[in-house]
Amino acid sequence: MLRGEGDSGAGHASRRAVVQPAFGGLSAKAREQAQLFERRLVKRARHLRRWPTRQGITCFRLYERDIPEIPLVVDRYEDCLHIAEFDRPHERTVAEHADWLDLMARTAARVLDVDPKRVFFKRRQRQRGTSQYERVGDQGRTFVVGEGGLRFEVNLSDYVDTGLFLDHRITRSMVRDAAAGKRFLNLFGYTGSFTVYAAAGGAVSTTTVDLSNTYLDWARHNMGLNEFAGPEHRFVRDDGLSFVESCRDTFDLAVVDPPTFSNSKRTEQYWDIQRDYSALLRALLSRMSPGGVVYFSTNFRRFKFDPAVLQGATAREISRQTVPPDFRNQRIHRCWRIVRG
Ligand SMILES: C[S@@+](CC[C@H](N)C(=O)[O-])C[C@H]1O[C@@H](n2cnc3c(N)ncnc32)[C@H](O)[C@@H]1O
Repeated sequence: MLRGEGDSGAGHASRRAVVQPAFGGLSAKAREQAQLFERRLVKRARHLRRWPTRQGITCFRLYERDIPEIPLVVDRYEDCLHIAEFDRPHERTVAEHADWLDLMARTAARVLDVDPKRVFFKRRQRQRGTSQYERVGDQGRTFVVGEGGLRFEVNLSDYVDTGLFLDHRITRSMVRDAAAGKRFLNLFGYTGSFTVYAAAGGAVSTTTVDLSNTYLDWARHNMGLNEFAGPEHRFVRDDGLSFVESCRDTFDLAVVDPPTFSNSKRTEQYWDIQRDYSALLRALLSRMSPGGVVYFSTNFRRFKFDPAVLQGATAREISRQTVPPDFRNQRIHRCWRIVRG
């Protein structure tokens, strides 16, 4: 999962086969960097060898820009690697850089014992404007992976993000533990991973809201993979704020994990978390039952949360519990547990 890093945003993806462009080539420095990268990956793989197996975790983060001159993020999704490159200044020509990336990908595949055909590469650029969640390819390399005894489809080739944000693994299990008998709302629900966990925890109903039909279909598919179907599971295409402002239903448990910014051709409005969170949470709290719990999360590093905006509710930051130990960046997200009085 790569959101929140440089505030995520548009990017483009490419599967890198071994490329040999003209005027490329590998410098001595590139080979040194590959050795540094290898040593770091070996160390991380050794460190994480027992932890994921003991916990039954098969999708996790292995490398997170640990070495500044190797600005990559490497996530394992079972027997695949998802590698993202962050745009940083360097002195390589385009062709040299292609060779450099190829060397790093081959190094990761070899050290981590992954078939090079199962290594997926994406390039992330600093966010421009408000475009997010763009499609960046159409190879359709989808895989079903397991987490917490549940199944999720990930797409490692076509989007900036994969469909399963690994930094919310612990938050998802908190939602499962809290869901028995609850009416659950997943606002900005993306591929519905929180919804799957809520259903698995015994929620009596689930409502997944997202602006994107693509993601709502994906959420439905993830629910189906886990054999959750039926009229008690609703999927609503709507703007998150408009939905809570016009909704007449009551919920007992909700997850709100909005993007930092987004624009919508549909509503002609743009979402800005810092500007809009208070209106959103206030409207949502009026739809929550007394004692109802909202998990609210953001990846926006500079986000300022003012609990005073939540009349009649209490908020506690729980980021220390929700950020998983495989994330070197312990500020990958911030999360609050808000309880309606
Ligand atoms: C950060 S992702 C949510 C991650 C999700 N909670 C999870 O952990 O799987 C943001 C989602 O919000 C959706 N989105 C963006 N702007 C929106 C809006 N104004 N209203 C509703 N959904 C929106 C996007 O389509 C995307 O699926």
